[in-house]
Amino acid sequence: MKENNEELIIKDLGKSYTVNYKEIEILKNININIKKGEFISIVGHSGCGKSTLLKIIAGLVEHKTGSVTLNGREINEPGTKVGMVFQDHRLLPWLTIKQNISFGLYDISNTEKERLISDHIKLVGLKGFENAYPHQLSGGMAQRAAIARALVHKPEVLLLDEPFGALDALTRIQMQKEILKIWEKEKTTMILVTHDIDESIYLGDKIVIMSSRPGTIKKVLPVEIARPRDRNSPDFSLLRRQVFDEFFVENSVVSDYVI
Ligand SMILES: Nc1ncnc2c1ncn2[C@@H]1O[C@H](COP(=O)(O)OP(=O)(O)OP(=O)(O)O)[C@@H](O)[C@H]1O
Ligand SMILES: [Mg+2]
Repeated sequence: MKENNEELIIKDLGKSYTVNYKEIEILKNININIKKGEFISIVGHSGCGKSTLLKIIAGLVEHKTGSVTLNGREINEPGTKVGMVFQDHRLLPWLTIKQNISFGLYDISNTEKERLISDHIKLVGLKGFENAYPHQLSGGMAQRAAIARALVHKPEVLLLDEPFGALDALTRIQMQKEILKIWEKEKTTMILVTHDIDESIYLGDKIVIMSSRPGTIKKVLPVEIARPRDRNSPDFSLLRRQVFDEFFVENSVVSDYVI
């Protein structure tokens, strides 16, 4: 049973939404065991249920069947053990960066709070911007603040839902390097949803490929390339090809159906 206490376990998970009195199956038979400290990338077509899956893990959305357990405890509601970063930063515009990061930090002394905030502002490279407001930051800086806000609660699992999706290509690559450094330092389990295949390979220990309607796990590809990964290396290119091939197979099935 020790194993169960060290993992995020998603077992036989299913989810449906009711739209216009009709039940639509969104996720089906999702089974994943994620080890403590693992970095998981999830890729899949738009609408296949990636965000829904993350929201269920965060306890923000109810599931229909199966279970999600962290360290042996079922997740049924939001809590500080699981943090989430969205595509848009979702910082409160009327609060400074420091106030945004400290929002929700209760039950600790002021000294401890100051230390935690200062550590996390440093961790995401925002020193000097403590008193700035969200609109005074660039997109990348605002996302860093959102990451700090999630990490300040010391979550065991950090869920990242296309966190760099709205950033330009160069900032995006910079942020990928930074999140990798943070992961190596904090050892937080990370689950990243991305549409960027290179990003999924650059960051993940494993790539979970989802199929659509309903969303299921189609394939899990381990990334056995030493970090920091070189996007131009033959191993990287080979894996990129494998991930694309998985998508291509699904696409060809869909177009056969349409024709
Ligand atoms: N609250 C809701 N009520 C009804 N249907 C919903 C709700 N939220 C999501 N859906 C539907 O569930 C499906 C999966 O949505 P989800 O946002 O999880 O997809 P996704 O894989 O994250 O897509 P994308 O890559 O575009 O972000 C979609 O068909 C969507 O319309
Ligand atoms: Mg989504």
